[in-house]
Amino acid sequence: MSKDRLIIFDTTMRDGEQSPGASMTRDEKIRIARALERLNVDVIEAGFAIASPGDFEAVKAVAETVKNCAVASLARAAYRDIEEAAAALKNAVRPRIHTFIATSPIHMQYKLQMTPEQVLDQAVRSVKQARGHTDDVEFSCEDASRSEFDFLCRIIEAVIAAGATTINLPDTVGYGEPGQYGEFIGRLIRTVPNADKAIFSVHCHNDLGLAVANSLSAVMHGARQVECTINGLGERAGNASLEEIVMAVRTRADVFPVETRIVTEEIVPASRLVSSITGFPVQPNKAIVGANAFAHEAGIHQDGVLKHRETYEIMRAQDVGWSTNRLVLGKHSGRAAVRARFEELGISFETPEELESAFKRFKELADKKHEIFDEDLQAIAGTVGSEDEAERYQFVALEAISHTGEKPRATVTLSIDGVERQSYAEGDGPVDAVFKAIENEVHSGTKLLLFSINAITTGTDSQAEVMVRLERDARIVNGAGADTDIIVASAKAYLHALNVMGGAVRAHPQIGGI
Ligand code: KIV
Ligand code: ZN
Repeated sequence: MSKDRLIIFDTTMRDGEQSPGASMTRDEKIRIARALERLNVDVIEAGFAIASPGDFEAVKAVAETVKNCAVASLARAAYRDIEEAAAALKNAVRPRIHTFIATSPIHMQYKLQMTPEQVLDQAVRSVKQARGHTDDVEFSCEDASRSEFDFLCRIIEAVIAAGATTINLPDTVGYGEPGQYGEFIGRLIRTVPNADKAIFSVHCHNDLGLAVANSLSAVMHGARQVECTINGLGERAGNASLEEIVMAVRTRADVFPVETRIVTEEIVPASRLVSSITGFPVQPNKAIVGANAFAHEAGIHQDGVLKHRETYEIMRAQDVGWSTNRLVLGKHSGRAAVRARFEELGISFETPEELESAFKRFKELADKKHEIFDEDLQAIAGTVGSEDEAERYQFVALEAISHTGEKPRATVTLSIDGVERQSYAEGDGPVDAVFKAIENEVHSGTKLLLFSINAITTGTDSQAEVMVRLERDARIVNGAGADTDIIVASAKAYLHALNVMGGAVRAHPQIGGI
């Protein structure tokens, strides 16, 4: 029996970007969009065009790059929002305007200060306006899971009549419970008279850790679009994770009445790319994409897997993009081999200079480390462009000294606007000393919110991937750095974050209504 298609709507670059510090530049969004296209998602929500000129440019650039997926921009149910979204999507092959307004009593009364009738009128007006620009219009009832059933039925019927082709019912605050939420979606589909004229969609937040369960329950009750993000990135505790939804539907094909068209082998490369661009590490025990997701430690498990894989494994690692042969290259590998391996991993570079820079970093790494793994190449790809000439602060060298019983100290050489400077500091540890030495020169006025280190591969010669989160004037940015020397990786991550703080337009101003 043929199954219904489950539409995968990726919102990594919109809701995912709303995580503090996860903002992305236009070029980073283009790279993520390419990875999403390789994954074969159905819809890419590229951003919120009206939020800032940077967001507008990013949505426009993604719309012009992507050929095989619909590209959406978010827009409040407001005239200017919709015009901006339409303008940013002008050159998309398949533009979608995603407009929304809150429908719960608490949001309508306190946030919007509007009556339900006003909300309904504005929703209908906005959907009609959006339909003037494209046939693909999605309408979201923000805070749907806390909205009144009868009002939802009225507004959904009205916006479908006005031309909405997708109706999204977000669990905005992550309050839903799987049984109840699924039943609620099913009841709406059964009750709204013109429900058959639209696809019903869900968008669940993970505040109670139930985003995936709620989404899948809704699918069992008739939802045919799920909004999700790579690695579950998103506001607060995040959104439903794309990889978990897709693999649940595929692995339990005996239960779910739907299938996706996702190229699952692209899941891990996409996860690594999003992690290195945002600087949000993936926890090792994260389902599907965590480093330990397929690692069997207990002897009894290892024995079972060796005798018959399915004793303990319900999915094959290679089906989600963990390569079986992860040892790829060494110091004698040439440009063509390195480039071919990057291509096999789905990594392409915009310009010959970027490829050259990646190759140079590969050679530097191969000098320090005998075996280069796919993860190393992905880390290299993640940092190409992050140290380009235009960046204000560049790492040159450092010396860090730790003697038991003595205060750790560091001398850092960095280039600021092309001029080399050297700075010395003592600290509570070598990383602290390095950061203090940098600050002695830079005086950034930032506050360090987070510092984390992850080993990219196994072995003590592994590269360390460091993430640094800084805050200044309520703006939060992340920086990432990778090196076989954890102190150097830390310095690179710190400088990367400082460059982001002072550099390209990324973070969008807080917009009321989401
Ligand atoms: O969580 C939410 O309600 C949203 C909507 C704007 C779709 O992100
Ligand atoms: Zn959301």
